[in-house]
Amino acid sequence: MSKVTIVEVGARDGLQNEKVLLSPEIRLEFAEKLAGAGIRKIELGAFVSPQWVPQMRGSTELMKMALARKTSGKSSLKDSELSALVPNLRGMQDAIDAGVKDVAIFASASEAFAKKNINCSIEESFGRFAKVMELAKSNGSRVRGYLSMCFGCPFEGEVPEGRVVRLVKRLRDLGVYEVSIGDTIGVANPMQVHRLVSKLIDAVGEDFLAMHFHDTRGTALANIHSSLQLGIRVFDSSLGGLGGCPYAPAATGNVATEDVVYMLHGMGYKTGIDLAQLIAINQWITEKVQHELPSRVGRAGLPKLLPIGT
Ligand code: HMG
Ligand code: MG
Repeated sequence: MSKVTIVEVGARDGLQNEKVLLSPEIRLEFAEKLAGAGIRKIELGAFVSPQWVPQMRGSTELMKMALARKTSGKSSLKDSELSALVPNLRGMQDAIDAGVKDVAIFASASEAFAKKNINCSIEESFGRFAKVMELAKSNGSRVRGYLSMCFGCPFEGEVPEGRVVRLVKRLRDLGVYEVSIGDTIGVANPMQVHRLVSKLIDAVGEDFLAMHFHDTRGTALANIHSSLQLGIRVFDSSLGGLGGCPYAPAATGNVATEDVVYMLHGMGYKTGIDLAQLIAINQWITEKVQHELPSRVGRAGLPKLLPIGT
């Protein structure tokens, strides 16, 4: 069976929406535990305005510490890619100054969310991204793209599929290596996913796409299954189902990494991730954020009867 890549976004998408602000040291420990469990792609910080998202304050210090541990070769981080969000040129410069080579720009398929999230129109945001890409290229950085609100927007309602396809192509033309398709507020259903992802695959191919489901209404695993059937092999998730988006009302956490990994292993896919360790990390981070997390597998634990594989 084929391999699936998990992009763990709990330390960014998850923690950016928590009431308790965690120090860079605790966020670093979180990343080390995730890498120790076999997660090879970890989104760890965001070079955004601390006035807008105070939870991501200290990302420079955090990324510097994490990259130093990674290059020392003594940390579990040594084999994991550590990335951070950048909204504009200032963020990209901060990422470079911190030594970060893997970054992500984030666009929106809805005009209203672009304004609320990054304070500009979709068109203006693409102007900013072009400048970010130029600087990234001169620094040899790898840039991922996100596109939010692909399945519906809390401010505008339905989002036309043609617009999503056009914006994904535009991100590709800017030079990102992959676009993560966001169901930011967790409204998608498996048939809708099948329809949109089929169109996206026709436009850019399945290897260029990742899926980013929030589990607000309980459809995320079904949506992942729908995407898997079309050949998508990269999924974003947050340990425990931490998360949300500070600028999208009613956006609850990302689909939980434990739940995704449990389902994938049961279906015979390989992730390289140790599920029992994820459950232990859930208990650890629950104490730090001071509330129970929504992950079903985190709560129920591993069944005794099923092979769990890696
Ligand atoms: P703005 O207020 O329009 O910025 O914010 P500005 O250019 O007018 O500058 C205002 C001040 O901010 C200036 O400082 C700038 O230097 C400073 P002052 O002169 O007043 O002292 N500034 C910055 N500071 C730190 N880092 C920066 C930066 N840029 C300017 N990069 C801005 C525009 C983009 C900065 C702001 O809107 C922002 O930080 N937004 C980020 C919001 C965010 O992080 N949202 C959550 C992540 S997206 C998400 O969760 C969705 C996703 O998960 C996918 C999905 O689920 O769909 C990815
Ligand atoms: Mg998100």
